[in-house]
Amino acid sequence: MISANNLKPVIDKGLKFYIETYGCQMNVGDSEIVVSILTSDGYTHTENIEDADIILINTCSIRDNAEQRVWGRLREFSSYKKRRPSLIIGVIGCMAERLKERLIESDCGVDIVAGPDSYRTLPLLVNEAKSGGKGINVLLSREETYADISPVRLDRNGVSAFVSIMRGCNNMCSYCVVPYTRGGERSRNSDTIIAEVRDLIDKGYREVTLLGQNVNSYNYEGVTFAELMRRVASLSPLLRVRFATSHPKDLSDELLETMASFPNICKSIHLPAQSGSDTMLERMNRKYTRSWYLERIGAIRRYMPDCSISTDIIAGFCGETPEEHEATLSLMREVGYEFAYMFKYSEREGTKASRHMKDDIDDKVKTERLTEIINLQNELSLASNKRDIGKRFEVLIEGPSKRNPSELVGRNSQNKVCVFADTTHKPGDYVDVIVDDCSSATLLCHLAE
Ligand code: SAH
Ligand code: SF4
Ligand code: F3S
Repeated sequence: MISANNLKPVIDKGLKFYIETYGCQMNVGDSEIVVSILTSDGYTHTENIEDADIILINTCSIRDNAEQRVWGRLREFSSYKKRRPSLIIGVIGCMAERLKERLIESDCGVDIVAGPDSYRTLPLLVNEAKSGGKGINVLLSREETYADISPVRLDRNGVSAFVSIMRGCNNMCSYCVVPYTRGGERSRNSDTIIAEVRDLIDKGYREVTLLGQNVNSYNYEGVTFAELMRRVASLSPLLRVRFATSHPKDLSDELLETMASFPNICKSIHLPAQSGSDTMLERMNRKYTRSWYLERIGAIRRYMPDCSISTDIIAGFCGETPEEHEATLSLMREVGYEFAYMFKYSEREGTKASRHMKDDIDDKVKTERLTEIINLQNELSLASNKRDIGKRFEVLIEGPSKRNPSELVGRNSQNKVCVFADTTHKPGDYVDVIVDDCSSATLLCHLAE
């Protein structure tokens, strides 16, 4: 019997798709959700771009240079497409959300545009593109958390995984595009988070990083972030638990107390300061002051004297005076950060800063200030690592060192990279090491007896 289905044009679901990811860890997590959605629909994931019938690029809009990198890649993809006109090119993620039709209208041969909340419709968008049309969905949602989707892990070490616990952001920092590209904040069902972590443990994973733009405001039907951390950390003493990112205004004592009481919650906090100046923090709409921030640093140290602290800093935001820049340097010295991500301010269309403030710091000055910030951070990182010489740490092994195959690389609880000679252990093992020497980026260690 011929069913109605047999009469439909054959949709070749066996097509292979390739996905490339830019931007933050949230995007890494999202790519894993996309792989899950497309493979459930019959498509095959390939890591070889030459093999792919569909190329997806998961994009970031945080700074102009992030977008320029993606444009560069899109131009390369469009040259593949000249050779193979049936190739489907899709732009997904934050740039898709920000630029919408402008991506289709570009001359890069883009067929699909899908924003961060529309990944469930990707199979439909791909069908649209296969039949010669353009597939576009950039609707943001108030509810979507992809709670029920099991991500297909793309990392190959099988040791650590990202678990998305919330999406979007309500903070509206004046420089930032994220609330526009990812929509409002929503927390994922805590039971599905626990189920996902249990499954990772069963598969042999030893570390999870719980992800959100502001994890401290996680709240699902009364379950707070601290409560969620307690539940996740209680699943197995062999599982390390990390999280990112914390907004300083919401870092609670309840969380610090929880961190201190679980040995398997890593002693490392990423607490983006952005600036050390109150007038600047006000313009950035960060909703805390330097003294509030320093009080929170004090609280971290009280609960966990061995906790490492890292940060994000922006150089040259609108109207930044030399005094405000100095205040940032002095904050960095006062805290003595272990690590920092440091950026030049990049104006983003549509943000409060682009509408109401002037991007008036000369690029040369931005570069000078950023260089000063980077140089200072290198000193601080080196000083912090030097203080670790002679100390003993438990390290979770991630894999062999790229430079020397007889060495292994892992991290300590403080998230510092440790390298040591060892050919007997394997990724996922815990070993104790002693620090012999260091650079500003690495602790050079030997296995403890
Ligand atoms: N939700 C996280 C940050 C996400 S974006 C948080 O609030 O900490 C990561 C970092 O990019 C930010 O902390 C900030 O330092 C930087 N950033 C964001 N917008 C930027 C812009 N327009 N120009 C330069 N850096 C920016
Ligand atoms: Fe952007 Fe601020 Fe939200 Fe972080 S907290 S994502 S910097 S708006
Ligand atoms: Fe970039 Fe979007 Fe993340 S703008 S930093 S990929 S939330």
